Amino acid sequence: MRAVPALQEVIRDGIPDRGMPRVRRLTANELNQLVAYVRSLGRTTSPATRGNEERGRAIYEKSGCASCHIIGGQGGSFGPDLTEIGMSRGAAYLRQALLGPAEALPRGTSPVPGRGFAEYLPVRIVTADGREIRGVRINEDPFTIQVRDAGNRLHSFRKSDLKDLDKEFGKSLMPGFRGRITDVEVEDLVAYLSGLRGVR
Ligand code: HEC
Repeated sequence: MRAVPALQEVIRDGIPDRGMPRVRRLTANELNQLVAYVRSLGRTTSPATRGNEERGRAIYEKSGCASCHIIGGQGGSFGPDLTEIGMSRGAAYLRQALLGPAEALPRGTSPVPGRGFAEYLPVRIVTADGREIRGVRINEDPFTIQVRDAGNRLHSFRKSDLKDLDKEFGKSLMPGFRGRITDVEVEDLVAYLSGLRGVR
């Protein structure tokens, strides 16, 4: 039962570096009720796909998804962790994320204005000495930007040192699978992803 304490921590402490604030101090009892409520949300979502979960898992494995995504601690961390993706995203969103990723960039779910910026925004940076770095934005403030490249290296730059900084809004560094997998395979993948609800 790893997932319950993890969810409790998130509700109790927030996720400060991803923009989720701690709302207020909760009693242990309130916390337990809230955890039970949030978990019930994940369960009631009906599976809006006819796909086959087992086949979906096989397609996930053979399509190289794990080079960029983690499920249950396994895989690469370039893209979002998918361990609990079935709790936070519905089938329609998942389908779109596979077929046309740029149309569905994950957004922070925080209601705090300004904090819900598009995550995994692709950026292209050219340093003063002409080096080009492509990656996704991890964080940014008025003076600096932090980027993770496809080799999983973190870079931090002072903007005033850069020759070029392109934020590629509307693009995604996830390869689109439209035309590369069949409609049936898409549904199988969606079924597999919808079933990912963390460690129970
Ligand atoms: C080259 C790296 C890469 C590969 C390979 C890749 N992805 Fe992604 N994926 C990303 C990145 C980066 C994002 C975040 C940006 C976006 O949503 O477009 C993402 C986003 C997603 C999302 C949306 C997550 C969210 O929280 O909204 C899903 C679902 C997903 N990928 C599933 C898959 C599946 C399934 C495969 C294999 C068929 C796959 N990805 C292959 C890099 C990759």
